[in-house]
Amino acid sequence: MAKPIALVTGAAAGIGAAIAERLAADGYRVCIADRAAGPAEATADAIRKAGGDAFAEALDITDEIAQAALLQRLGELDVLVNNAGIFDVKDFFELTADDFRRMYEINTVAMFTLSRNAATRMAKGARIVNIASRAMLGARHYAHYVSSKAAVVGLTRAMALELAPRGISVNAVAPGVIETQMLKARSDTNLDGLRALQPLGRLGVPEDIARTVAFLAAPEADFITGQILLVDGGRSLGGATGI
Ligand SMILES: NC(=O)c1ccc[n+]([C@@H]2O[C@H](COP(=O)([O-])OP(=O)(O)OC[C@H]3O[C@@H](n4cnc5c(N)ncnc54)[C@H](O)[C@@H]3O)[C@@H](O)[C@H]2O)c1
Repeated sequence: MAKPIALVTGAAAGIGAAIAERLAADGYRVCIADRAAGPAEATADAIRKAGGDAFAEALDITDEIAQAALLQRLGELDVLVNNAGIFDVKDFFELTADDFRRMYEINTVAMFTLSRNAATRMAKGARIVNIASRAMLGARHYAHYVSSKAAVVGLTRAMALELAPRGISVNAVAPGVIETQMLKARSDTNLDGLRALQPLGRLGVPEDIARTVAFLAAPEADFITGQILLVDGGRSLGGATGI
């Protein structure tokens, strides 16, 4: 029997690479789509060396023509993981409309176009998993990122309703602080300080998110749609300082 196909965006590194590795271990043929062609190739190669089935495709997710061409090459799609995203830190009074547009273009608009185009190639039982962020709840110093991820929540819930008649479920995972390159974009990064805010006492690792995505993609999750699952070591609960 042919393996189910999973497309993971932004899978050259970080959380996306861990998701690709996990889905390959679960028996999917995984397409690693990333604008960083070399690292995407290296990640696919590592998965193959570990016995998994993966291949890389260079894709800037904001390029709708390239999206369509890739989807055509893939044929039918079983799982789409919208993981690619950008982050940066900027004081509220320094932020511009262009900062917002760029953030939304990658984190939100491309997620919509890729999902809409992919859904036409998905059969009943297919899954879409979006990567949101705990930042959807609000955070200082990156209002553009916070807003783009809150929009991912609305998009996830709307798509769940739009695609339910086709038997396609749509959920989101909202990671807390996960140790990847993205954290390094924060000049204020103080890992010990961030760790101290974690009720469970540790920062996240990409595999924490990969496991959750794998669950939402698996047959066991077939009655779950439109949900946003916070995977953040309890940070969203508050109370980390005991006050
Ligand atoms: N690391 C965290 O603490 C954290 C927390 C919450 C949410 N997230 C979300 O998780 C996702 C992955 O984050 P990460 O920490 O692994 O980041 P990362 O920077 O390590 O990896 C992101 C990947 O996305 C790719 N990418 C970026 N823009 C792209 C585009 N236009 N087209 C194609 N690929 C593109 C990059 O090349 C990179 O390989 C993002 O959506 C991010 O917002 C991360």
